[in-house]
Amino acid sequence: PFVEKRAIRASFLHFIANPAEVANPQHSYQFFADGLLVIHDGLIAELRDYHAEDAERYPELEDRSGQLIMPGFVDTHIHYAQTEMIAAYGEQLLEWLDTYTFPTEQQFADKDYASKIAQFVINELLKNGTTSALVFGTVHPQSVDAIFEQAAARNMRLIAGKVMMDRNAPEYLLDTPESGYAESKALIEKWHNRDRLQYAITPRFAPTSTPEQLNMAGRLKAEYPDTYVQTHVSENKNEIEWAKSLFPECRGYFDIYQHYGLTGAKSIFSHAIHLTDEEWQAFSETDSVIAFCPSSNMFLGSGLFALERATAAKVRVGLGTDVGAGTSFSPLQTLSDAYKVMQLRGQKLSALDGFYLATLGGAQALSLSDKIGTLAVGSEADLVVLDWAATEVQRLRMHNSNGLEDRLFALMMLGDDRNIAATYVAGRCVYSAS
Ligand code: GUN
Ligand code: ZN
Repeated sequence: PFVEKRAIRASFLHFIANPAEVANPQHSYQFFADGLLVIHDGLIAELRDYHAEDAERYPELEDRSGQLIMPGFVDTHIHYAQTEMIAAYGEQLLEWLDTYTFPTEQQFADKDYASKIAQFVINELLKNGTTSALVFGTVHPQSVDAIFEQAAARNMRLIAGKVMMDRNAPEYLLDTPESGYAESKALIEKWHNRDRLQYAITPRFAPTSTPEQLNMAGRLKAEYPDTYVQTHVSENKNEIEWAKSLFPECRGYFDIYQHYGLTGAKSIFSHAIHLTDEEWQAFSETDSVIAFCPSSNMFLGSGLFALERATAAKVRVGLGTDVGAGTSFSPLQTLSDAYKVMQLRGQKLSALDGFYLATLGGAQALSLSDKIGTLAVGSEADLVVLDWAATEVQRLRMHNSNGLEDRLFALMMLGDDRNIAATYVAGRCVYSAS
């Protein structure tokens, strides 16, 4: 049943700018230690300090004093079909794909199986505080039906697409330039902008598409300019050499996508670890977006992403769990990995940087910051309710904390799904730990 109007008392944190881009990071966020959020018709109607009169004014007031509410997390890169093979041992990207990934994705030819995993994944996202995601399906169109159906059942804002892949993978996972185009087009017509769902044209990565297929993908993007594009770029050194050898006419890996009309403000490229100066500039000039997937990048031994270069080049970046190459659905654990990646590069990722990345940064990466990633009045009420401490160690650490940023940093480094008390989608509670 739809809750027309509700008011919640809690601590609230949301961002209004990228802390790395403002002169004073303290001006990048709003924090209400004892705040009141009013939701009306699934949208945020009011956010302010709590006043004593509010108890009378809102007799149904939901008292979450002591908990922290933020905009729901945004996961800008996840392969829902790889859930069952998460944590597969011993390989780097190309061998990992052949050995573990492709056989697992084959099972999504079966719609019932796809629906079962899709339901599991949607529940897992919500349990981790993630309210929006940009999702890879498999080559099978029914895999995309399955994830959209499960997201629609929760009224989630979700973007997904069917993998296009017509070479360099097992026969049983290949489409053709024509079938990949026609099936993607049918899915766009069926799902794009239906409820809160949107479609992403999804060539897996350049090495698994023929020039003919990338051409068809580009044609589709030109026919439906409002759709997204998602793919991978410059993740692994062997992958880069392979991509360049398959498209010798292109100046580099990213240039392949540019050549086929697949770059732009709604194009999200995962990894982008080993970009050349020229490629950084091309990212910037085309306003293309990067999904930073630190857990995956360390798990597959791919390398360390240069987040500060993206900031300097004004390239938008979102956080991606990249399950199943990433080993956690938790944006908190993924941020903890992001911090360590930055440390290994002699850089910093403050708690403000981290929580910005997981909320407003992700929304901006998906060109959705007018709707999600913020608690600004008029935005969609997608919320994560966090417990500051969910374990004995966290309790001990929080008792010994020193101010908001220190507490947020401890939460980012030590937190996981145990810290997620509840998750709201469009104003409705869709997950509750208790
Ligand atoms: N590049 C092409 N396909 C994949 C995939 O499934 N996972 C990752 N991490 N990289 C890829
Ligand atoms: Zn991926």
